[in-house]
This record gives sequence, C-alpha cells and structure tokens, in this order.
Amino acid sequence: MPSLRSWALAALTLAQSALGAPSPAHLSARSVDAWLADEADIALDRILSNIGSTGQYATSAASGIVIASPSTDNPDYYYTWSRDAALVLKTLIELFRNGESSLQTAIMNYVDSQAILQTVSNPSGSLSGSGTGLGEPKFNVDKTAFTGSWGRPQRDGPALRATALIDFGNWLLDNGYETYAEDNVWPVVRNDLSYVAQYWNQTGYDLWEEVSGSSFFTISAQHRALVEGSAFAGRVGGSCDYCDSQAPQILCFMQSFWTGSYMNANFGGGRSGKDANTVLASIHAFDPTANCDDTTFQPCSSRALANHKVYTDSFRSVYTLNSGIAEGSAVNVGRYPEDSYYNGNPWFLTTLAAAEQLYDAIYTWNRLESLTITSTSLAFFTDLYSSAAVGTYAASTAAFADIVAAVQTYADGYVALVEAHAMTNGSMSEQYDKSVGTQLSARDLTWSYAALLTANMRRNAIVPQPWGETGASSVPSVCVATAATGTYATAGVSSWPSTLTGGTGVTKVPTTTATGTTKTSTGTQTTTTTTTAPCTTPTSVAVTFNEIANTYYGENVFLTGSITQLGSWDTDNGVALSAIDYTASNNLWFVTVDLPAGTTFQYKYYRKESDGSIVWESDPNRSYTVPAACNVNTVAENDTWR
Ligand code: NOJ
Ligand code: NOJ
Repeated sequence: MPSLRSWALAALTLAQSALGAPSPAHLSARSVDAWLADEADIALDRILSNIGSTGQYATSAASGIVIASPSTDNPDYYYTWSRDAALVLKTLIELFRNGESSLQTAIMNYVDSQAILQTVSNPSGSLSGSGTGLGEPKFNVDKTAFTGSWGRPQRDGPALRATALIDFGNWLLDNGYETYAEDNVWPVVRNDLSYVAQYWNQTGYDLWEEVSGSSFFTISAQHRALVEGSAFAGRVGGSCDYCDSQAPQILCFMQSFWTGSYMNANFGGGRSGKDANTVLASIHAFDPTANCDDTTFQPCSSRALANHKVYTDSFRSVYTLNSGIAEGSAVNVGRYPEDSYYNGNPWFLTTLAAAEQLYDAIYTWNRLESLTITSTSLAFFTDLYSSAAVGTYAASTAAFADIVAAVQTYADGYVALVEAHAMTNGSMSEQYDKSVGTQLSARDLTWSYAALLTANMRRNAIVPQPWGETGASSVPSVCVATAATGTYATAGVSSWPSTLTGGTGVTKVPTTTATGTTKTSTGTQTTTTTTTAPCTTPTSVAVTFNEIANTYYGENVFLTGSITQLGSWDTDNGVALSAIDYTASNNLWFVTVDLPAGTTFQYKYYRKESDGSIVWESDPNRSYTVPAACNVNTVAENDTWR
C-alpha cells in the first residue's frame, strides 16, 4: 500500500499531466513535499522553544518574550526584537486560526508582554506623552531596556505588532470574546497605530538595522497597519481618524520607491536598493482577496514580479553557491547583494520569502482564474516560460496551466535550497555560507522558522485573513508629508479565559451556560446566542461541498483529499457529488459529508470521464478546516472548478 504522501504526489503528477504541464521536476517536487511536512512540525517546535519562559532555550526570558535566537555569543541574539517577535506571532496566530488551538497561551502571553514592554522607557524614549519609546527595536529578555548603542529608532516594530494583534483581536471578535478584544488587545494596538500615524514620515533605521532613512518595508507595513487598524477600531467600538487620514498618504509615498524596474528598498544608505526588504514587504502585504495591484505591491503584481527577478538575479554572481545557476532557476538569496555582515551570505528567511511570494501569486491567479503578463513583468515570465507574451491568460488555457506549473517549480526550487542547507535535524540558523553552505551566525533563528511556516502554508493555499487592501489601494493624486496624533496610554494587563474555542470564520459563543452570559473578572460577557439549548460543540459537522463545474453528459464529479473520510487521495475511494440540482445556468455538483469538528485537511475535485479516466483540478490543493464551534452542526463550502 503506497503511503499517503505518494498518493498525494501521484495526484499532483496526474493533475499536472492532465493539464498538459511538464511533469514536475523529478526530485524537487517529491522531496520538498516530504521535507516540508516534517520541517513544519520542527519549525513550530523550535519557535516554542524560543519563547519565555517555558521554551527550553528561553527559560530566563519573561513570559511571552520571543528571543531572536538562543545564541548568546557571536552573535548575541538573546534579546527580543519587536520586529522578529511580531512576525513570529503573526505566524502563530495564523496557525491558531487554522486549528493549532494549543497556541492560545503563547499568544495571550505575548499580548500581555507587549502591553508591558510598551511602557518601558528606553533610549528611543517612552510611551507617555509622545510615544517615542515604541520605536525601540530590541529589549532585554527580562523586559528591561537595552541601553547599548544601536540603530534606533526602527519604526516597523509598532506596525508589525499591530498587524499581529489585530488578527488575533479579529478572531476574538468573531468568536464571541468581544470584551477581550476591547480590553486586552485594542489598548496595545491603539498605541502602535498612534505611533505609526505620528512618525511614519520621519526617518528611522531599516529592518536590517543599518540604514537610516525611509525604508520600503517599514512604510508598506505601516500602510497595512493603519488600514486594518481603522477597521479594527470600529469593531471594538472605537475609531481611528488618525489612521484614516494617514493611510492614503503612506500609500502615496510608497509609490515613490518604484524605480521603473524594481522597488528601491531605501531612501538613504547609498546602495543599489535591491533588497529582500521589498520581497518581505510584498508577502507581508499579501491580501488573498486583492487583485494583482501594483500600488500595494501585491505578490502577483507586475511590479512585485519584476522586482523578484531583479532582486534574486542580483545574487547569481555574488555567491559561489549560485555559480552556473541560470536565470529562472532558484538561487540562494540574502538580504542585499552588498551585504557584508558575516561577509554577506544567503539567509534562510530571505530564500523562503522568495518562494512565498510566488506561492501567494499562484493563489491569486487561481482565484482570479487568470493571469496577466505586462511589459513590466514580461522578463520575469520569460525566464520561466520562453514563449511568454504580454497579455491575459485565462485559467482554461494550456498556457495558464504551463505558466503556473513553471512558477510552482521555480518556487519549490527555493524551498529545495533551504532544505539542502538546513541541518538533518531540521535546524536553521540565520545564514549559510555563500561558498560552502554551512550554517552561520545565530543558530535556531526564530524568524527562520516562522518564514518556513508561512511559505509552507502558502504553498498549500492556506492564506492569511484579508486586511482591507481592496478598499485601500487607490493612490491620492497629490502626496502630502503629514502626521496625525493619536492616543498613548498604558494598556493594563488583564485576565483571559482559560480556553478559547472557535472555528474558522464562525461566530461563536464562549459561554458554558445556557443563559448566554458569563461572569469574567472584567465583567459580564454578553453573548449573542438565541438558542435556549446548552452550548455544545459538536464532534462531527455535516460539511456540504458545492462545486460549480461545467460537465457533459457521462462525465462525473468527485472529490478526494488527505483524510480517510475523503478517500485519502485515492481516486477509487473518492466521494461522488450529485448533479440532481445541475441546470444549464447553475452547474452545481454537491455532496454532504460528516467530518470530525476541527479537522484541517487538503482536498481537490476531479472528474471521471465516461471512459474511466481521471481529470484533476489544477493546483494547488484546496484546504479546509471543519469548524469546531458551539452549535455549528452544518456548514457549506462553495467552490468552482479550476
Ligand atoms: C550588523 C548587522 O548588519 C545587523 O543587521 C545586525 O542586526 C546588527 N549587526 C546586530 O547583530
Ligand atoms: C539582524 C537582522 O538584520 C534584523 O532584521 C533582526 O531583527 C535581528 N538580526 C534579530 O534577528
């Protein structure tokens, strides 16, 4: 009996050959799949090892404090950086949303730790008055100020933290924990949004802590934070007019980083400006409901793809490891080609980011059911698909399938390089040697593991929550250098419920009583339940899969996936859909399957032709988490054949 993994691989191969795509690169597709499945578990484990005070490498760090790395010497990374910690928590919150409920304590501890860190006076300033202390890049692990000399302030930290916390706050709001969103999360977020609105237009150090000026990554993260911050403020009964007034102006400024062929990472610093800064900005700004917008530098935008090529190509000649690797094949990439830190080497997190941007792009093309090549992005595509031409390719065309398959292979190539340089026990440091590939600099860099996890999710078409890009992508006609003042106030540390229960996108009731109210230390939580039945979370949920698929008589639609209930990727054991409601104007196939609450799985539809042959939907696999929510017994998932 072949393993599940080989069935999945067989499915992938079939899917690609059914679409006329070249068969996947023999070795990389198989080994990347298998390696990522194991490495994702290791990565989560290593992240938790680096969070105080329960993490095995962070026992002297305070509760909720994320250390950058356990390395205390050459380099000493046994500190907490606001940036690294926020990006790591953003990842953990996403995993939590997707069913890793065990992460709730780590997330709540992080919120509490940040409420305190915000109040710690430091060399950048303090919270009270003008909020300047929020720009401090790093703290000691016991939450005291780091007072040595450093590149400060760094203004990305507050924006990134706001984004992480807003995602968690929205989850709380969606799942009936309003008071915790209002009392515990919003006060911390409000300080960070106030800082962004007040200081975005002032210079600071870039994310690499070296260039003082204006940095694209920072500006882009600030834009996103204010956009979602405004919506979040409204949801918790507050408002953020300072977000609303500044966000469009930040977007305006962002446009000036476009050189015509790539994004210039920094104003200031005197470098080429080709820098992972920009790729990290793009994946951080990814909104799965957005179009391929250039203005917000979406991963699938022409600008971001052109930039991907210019950025990655800039490393082809500077690292011996890359010698002989032609354009269009993955290379090891670092922060920027002029880098001299540890003599300048590839980094795990940047090589993973190069993959992640492409997985994001594939997700959006599949969602839009088309991709467009413009004169700006043509060179990117030509490297991968020699007959690429300017134009729009519908998902039904062979060219679309070929291009998407080529981009997938290219992206997997970056992951394969990471795999090749990770240790056999899964460890990833910060860098690996540009000539011989051995690991360098800080060991077990927490951010490297977060980068692995987000790339892996995107590869599996598991995407983050939208942040409001679709309402925030139009650029004002005139840019104005402005600022606005918000509110700075100490966020009190408050209590949390002992368990948070919820399901993806389902509004739920946290109470365990039938009356719909719960006494908490912060007051009475009023719930929205209208039923008098006790709140119970079902163990199994009836999930209806609706699939719109235009079929001919004799052709039938099935689905299969990674769990036994769906046939474990075996097309002989898939679940047949019904066409009894199929009409010429509504090509509906559907089936209802009972599935265990809380299960996350991958799946795909396929057609069985009248001659018995199988036609798979295009990649990537679909992903779904069955809600585990109070009184949610039935749900529907609506899909369209692709
Ligand atoms: C110099 C490096 O280039 C910078 O990125 C790093 O953060 C600091 N040293 C501290 O390690
Ligand atoms: C150096 C990196 O340049 C910076 O981005 C990071 O925050 C610190 N190391 C800690 O990981």
